[in-house]
Amino acid sequence: MVMASAEINGVVITSNIHPASSLFVEGDPLRLKQVVMNLLSNAIKYGGTSGLVTVLYKEMKDKARIEVRDNGPGIHDHDLERIFEPFYRSDEVLNLTEGRGLGLSLVKEFVTQMNGQYGVESEKNKGTLFWIELPKANVTTEAPLAPFLKEKDKKTLKFFI
Ligand SMILES: Nc1ncnc2c1ncn2[C@@H]1O[C@H](COP(=O)(O)OP(=O)(O)O)[C@@H](O)[C@H]1O
Ligand SMILES: [Mg+2]
Repeated sequence: MVMASAEINGVVITSNIHPASSLFVEGDPLRLKQVVMNLLSNAIKYGGTSGLVTVLYKEMKDKARIEVRDNGPGIHDHDLERIFEPFYRSDEVLNLTEGRGLGLSLVKEFVTQMNGQYGVESEKNKGTLFWIELPKANVTTEAPLAPFLKEKDKKTLKFFI
């Protein structure tokens, strides 16, 4: 597996998502990018100093799965039930970090629009794993990115992750 690493604000990010990968999913590339960026920025923001963040994609039978994992403080069970609600932020982060509590509600909205699934697993003081799964596209070439496409057409675009 090819892994690439980068460091941002002392957080080491490792990923197997690589330009030479050939995994295609159904959906809207701009929305998918926003979803992954939201999960990644949370992992960096909440993962804590000397954080390790891993972004992995995994090919499944009919789906592609993307996982964003951190080794931060984790999320309490009572917060886990609510973090995908708009404007919900856990008490622990309220005074520590800036945020409007909207990123995960967009993750929920966009992944659902793209006929995908999402979820989270977390263990206090160990870390958090967010995952999304999207239907795999049955193509080997990327559809042209056309910003002028109508909303309904965008949803069926096939693209490369
Ligand atoms: N990786 C993470 N580790 C710990 N807590 C997290 C993580 N990601 C999200 N959260 C919790 O979920 C809440 C909602 O996240 P989000 O919707 O992205 O809003 P924001 O980042 O603006 O607070 C955060 O305020 C935080 O309490
Ligand atoms: Mg956020």
